[in-house]
Amino acid sequence: MTNDDLEIKRGLKDIYIDTTKSSYIDGKNGRLFYRGYDINQLANNSTFEETSYLLMHGELPNERELEKFDSELKSARKLPDKVIEIIRNVQSSHPMDVLRTSISALSAFDVDVNDNSREANLRKGIRLTAQSPAIVAAHDRIRRGENVIPPDENLSHASNFLYTLTGEIPDKEDGKLLDKDFLLHAEHGLNASSFGARITASTQSDLHSAVTTGVGILKGPSHGGAAESVMKMAMDIGEPDNTEEYIKNLLNNRGRVMGFGHRVYKSVDPRAIHLRDDAKKLGERKNQTKWYSILESIAELMVPYAKKGICQNVDFFSGAIYYLMGISEDLYTSIFTMGRIPGWTAQVMEQFEKNILIRPRLLYDGLLDIDYVPIKKRS
Ligand SMILES: CC(C)(COP(=O)(O)OP(=O)(O)OC[C@H]1O[C@@H](n2cnc3c(N)ncnc32)[C@H](O)[C@@H]1OP(=O)(O)O)[C@@H](O)C(=O)NCCC(=O)NCCS
Repeated sequence: MTNDDLEIKRGLKDIYIDTTKSSYIDGKNGRLFYRGYDINQLANNSTFEETSYLLMHGELPNERELEKFDSELKSARKLPDKVIEIIRNVQSSHPMDVLRTSISALSAFDVDVNDNSREANLRKGIRLTAQSPAIVAAHDRIRRGENVIPPDENLSHASNFLYTLTGEIPDKEDGKLLDKDFLLHAEHGLNASSFGARITASTQSDLHSAVTTGVGILKGPSHGGAAESVMKMAMDIGEPDNTEEYIKNLLNNRGRVMGFGHRVYKSVDPRAIHLRDDAKKLGERKNQTKWYSILESIAELMVPYAKKGICQNVDFFSGAIYYLMGISEDLYTSIFTMGRIPGWTAQVMEQFEKNILIRPRLLYDGLLDIDYVPIKKRS
């Protein structure tokens, strides 16, 4: 076979590598399903805890099962002291780097680390889901010179994160909104970080390594880092009246409007619709409507791009929500990560169940048979 017979699919666009039962994205019609359930039904009726159970176990829990799952999550919230110590030592790094390092370090304290059975992965997935918010909150407090706050078992997963971050019992509506945000981020097909997590699992490595891979990939601004960039853009714009000039300049210079565009969604990202309405209501509740107005005016200017399939994605409004909750901008991607752990766990478990080494190929287009010249004779 010659090189001319080979077709290269750069970026693996539209390549299917396996089947899945974890989630389905209908990019054309803007629909998303977790384990067969429409994301809209889950966002309106479920909780992050229940949805995490659904993703990891494959079906919705009954009351007793959810209670057990919830108490397992709650009892895993406390971090080992040695991991807190590591966080102190790397506190000046970006929160995503601290999260990646700490998740990797947690493997040293996990009794199941080398057990790749389904049961062990469920236990580890629950622990990592509970421990990730604890890492992010502890790091933020340490770098602000504040004490690390122990978890509160009376609070939900999302409310406990806000409590351990701020030291104050959060407003119920803020807790509910963050819960929904986590739920909307929980799983999303073969996005770059889930693919990375699957590649790691495909070598028969382990869940901590796969999640560590996922965190590293999610950090990039083309993936999870977009929410932070959207809010930075809104701040640069400053006032709704400045939006038109800013966006026109950006697009004329072939820049990208962050929070727009998606590899799979070409009409609408259903997650963005939920967060759009929530960002608006939150702005009104907090008496800070300016940020939503700026985002709305960006969205209006981007209407012509919808024809090219460039629409708002989940990150467009999530940054504004975190900002209005008083969360530092550099924590936004970590919040996305906290939501995504159940999805990564579900996909790693799926990978282990019918494993095949993921190992594509690159087409070599360099020279061959070059003569080795001793170093002293090289010019
Ligand atoms: C997400 C993203 C990487 C998907 O990219 P993709 O499917 O590989 O699409 P491409 O990068 O090939 O872009 C296709 C075209 O749309 C344009 N485009 C894509 N996203 C754009 C954006 N946000 N703003 C302006 N133009 C955009 C590209 O410039 C390109 O135009 P061209 O064909 O004239 O060169 C891309 O849309 C992007 O960079 N978005 C901004 C970052 C972001 O919000 N990421 C979060 C994703 S959830």
